[in-house]
Amino acid sequence: MSTSRSLGVDFLLKNARIVTSSRLFEGSVGVEDGKIASLSPNLQPSGAKVYNAEGKIVIPGGIDAHTHMELPVTNATSADDFYSGTVAAACGGITTIVDFADPRPGETLLGALADYRKRADGKVAIDYGLHMMFKGQNLGEIEMISDIVRRGVPSFKVYTAYRKRGLMLEDPDISRVMRKVASLGGLVAVHAESERIIERLTQGNLVAGNTGPRFHALSRPAEAEAEAISRVTRLAHAAGARLYIVHLSSRVGKEEVERARGLGTSVFAETCPHYLVLTDEVYEREDGRNFVMSPALKKMDDLIALWHGLRPGGVIETVGSDHCPFPSFQKDWGEEDFTEIPNGVPGTEAIIPILYSEGVRKDRISMFDLVRVTSEAPARRFGLSPSKGSISVGADADFVVIDPNKRVRMTSDVLHTKIDYSIYDHLTTEGYPVLTVSRGEVVMEDGEFLGRRGRGRFIPRSVAS
Ligand code: URP
Ligand code: ZN
Repeated sequence: MSTSRSLGVDFLLKNARIVTSSRLFEGSVGVEDGKIASLSPNLQPSGAKVYNAEGKIVIPGGIDAHTHMELPVTNATSADDFYSGTVAAACGGITTIVDFADPRPGETLLGALADYRKRADGKVAIDYGLHMMFKGQNLGEIEMISDIVRRGVPSFKVYTAYRKRGLMLEDPDISRVMRKVASLGGLVAVHAESERIIERLTQGNLVAGNTGPRFHALSRPAEAEAEAISRVTRLAHAAGARLYIVHLSSRVGKEEVERARGLGTSVFAETCPHYLVLTDEVYEREDGRNFVMSPALKKMDDLIALWHGLRPGGVIETVGSDHCPFPSFQKDWGEEDFTEIPNGVPGTEAIIPILYSEGVRKDRISMFDLVRVTSEAPARRFGLSPSKGSISVGADADFVVIDPNKRVRMTSDVLHTKIDYSIYDHLTTEGYPVLTVSRGEVVMEDGEFLGRRGRGRFIPRSVAS
């Protein structure tokens, strides 16, 4: 960057190789008042601030529609708050997150929304939206869903698992939530894993003294995901609801989404960076506990199926991170019992580097696919278009510059999440984000966070198409 950190008006990104979800063109991006003011092959630098993007690739800022900042789980709280988590996101080329408001015990939906707004506003370094978790404790409040939608939160997450944590809903209750959300044009997100299968296998393993992290994976097989997807897609079809399967991890799960689509169910899926590059072999490592998340990592065959699902026409339309990290001392609580390991891994900073290096550079997906699944599709699906998710005149000036020649070993000292290890420390990328611009401000350059705490805004979302 040739001048100051803040781009303000008249910022020009020149010699840019700009990639959208459908075209690639060379030119300049002019920014004024945080918006893209011009796209032109001939623009001459007129302003004070110029970034020469020669030899680099410019894409829309990433939208990570699945994060859990400062989320309380059974015995811990996820390590990144809305500040450190959005710093990590920005450093990986993400310019918008959508987190999940989690009603605390006894809290109403409106109370949870106010609580999350209070937690996040003043901390977020990039823009954010919220989904609402819908738990059993809130079943008396189904009618209040309209108030939440009116406040810019048109998506609700239900769980088919985690009975003990009070998250799981029974099928008739899931149907009730689906019908209400559908009547308002909203979206139902589902954590789809079969509690019955998981409970039985977990119990069996613990009784047999099988307590290591690999038994976390063996207690949550791909069939647990497929069974739950089969069920919730049918419930959604009957309710006329639009459905979003979060963190899809398996081939058989994907096949269930395809089957439902084939029957005309309105369903799309998300996968996460960890399911695209890691397999259950990591649970054999000495630090296997650090890789415990739900759903658990699967096999190479699943990983291949997930990459396929990201291609044009595939049912996996977005990549979200499920960012929910815990430090190793907390993961160690499960040393003698895998059920005591706080579930979750970091990921928001990894989405774009992994999709570029492991996806585009290895010909598993195209650059257009990368843009579609990281920005264009999440913007459209989550009601953030047209201001987010594209490089077009009038849109927010949210974009990322990738240096295709930058190699980065993704160790914990390079990443910005607040934990003491990296689940990607074996990976050296071919290409990495080197500049992130959020509403016209440089928030990251060459791995250094340059933004400000609290500069991000809450984005009320509309009911999407
Ligand atoms: O293991 C996962 N997916 N953790 C995220 C937080 C949660 O419990 O849903
Ligand atoms: Zn999650």
